[in-house]
Amino acid sequence: MRIGFFDSGIGGMTVLHQALRFLPNEDYIFYADTLHVPYGEKPKKEVREYIFNAVDFMANQEIKALVIACNTATSIAVDDLRKNYDFPILGIEPAVKPAIQSWAGKQKKVLVFATNLTLREEKFHNLVKSIDHYDIVESVPLPGLVQFAESFEFREEKVIPYLKEELSSFDLKQYGTIVLGCTHFPYFEDSIRDIFPEEVDIISGSIGTAKNLKRILETRNQINEGAGDISFFKSGYKVEDKETLSNYKKLLVMLDRKSSLTTGA
Ligand code: DGL
Repeated sequence: MRIGFFDSGIGGMTVLHQALRFLPNEDYIFYADTLHVPYGEKPKKEVREYIFNAVDFMANQEIKALVIACNTATSIAVDDLRKNYDFPILGIEPAVKPAIQSWAGKQKKVLVFATNLTLREEKFHNLVKSIDHYDIVESVPLPGLVQFAESFEFREEKVIPYLKEELSSFDLKQYGTIVLGCTHFPYFEDSIRDIFPEEVDIISGSIGTAKNLKRILETRNQINEGAGDISFFKSGYKVEDKETLSNYKKLLVMLDRKSSLTTGA
């Protein structure tokens, strides 16, 4: 049986990329809800409907586990999804906890980048409230990065001016850790690193999620020795056209090249 990965778009590929490192012999289905991306700019009720439709579709593909490789979808739907299906469902959330743990040594603040919907959600506020005892966590929505990624625009000369504009009111020297709280953002790690002081740590929850997936499959005795095959789906249909498939594969190669840079929780 295969492992399902789901995101509003190509962001989830940054989590799949980590899973491929820890579980290279699994077969995967990757589902991008490209008809409805961006989730982060839409009303919660509408997005919940998209998520439930997509997960229903995936449940019919005989999967043994599902990774909601989207912080936004996790924050608004993971608890209810778990009630509806009997395979394990893993989510991803902004890695605020490890970011705060690293604060002691640095005395610098934590800045969380995510979508508007994630940052508005009670789940995020509760998470921060429960661990941010020194009031060091701040956040900023960066919906433009989702748009850039969906249009395969990764050039620094386009991305950096956007980041500078969005962060113009922040004193970047004050931050010791950046949390990438949206799975579309690791593609832009280099650009983000470029505008912050050199010693800044950039973390995401993707490594933690991949390790967790491995642990769950081991506990359930469900580790595969397959070929590491990936089938791609877009909003309910299988991607067959060569150009899209090759673009998706290029993304995984691009992430491979960056992986030495990526720290994670
Ligand atoms: N990739 C998603 C996340 O991790 C959401 C991007 C979007 O659709 O707005 O939050």
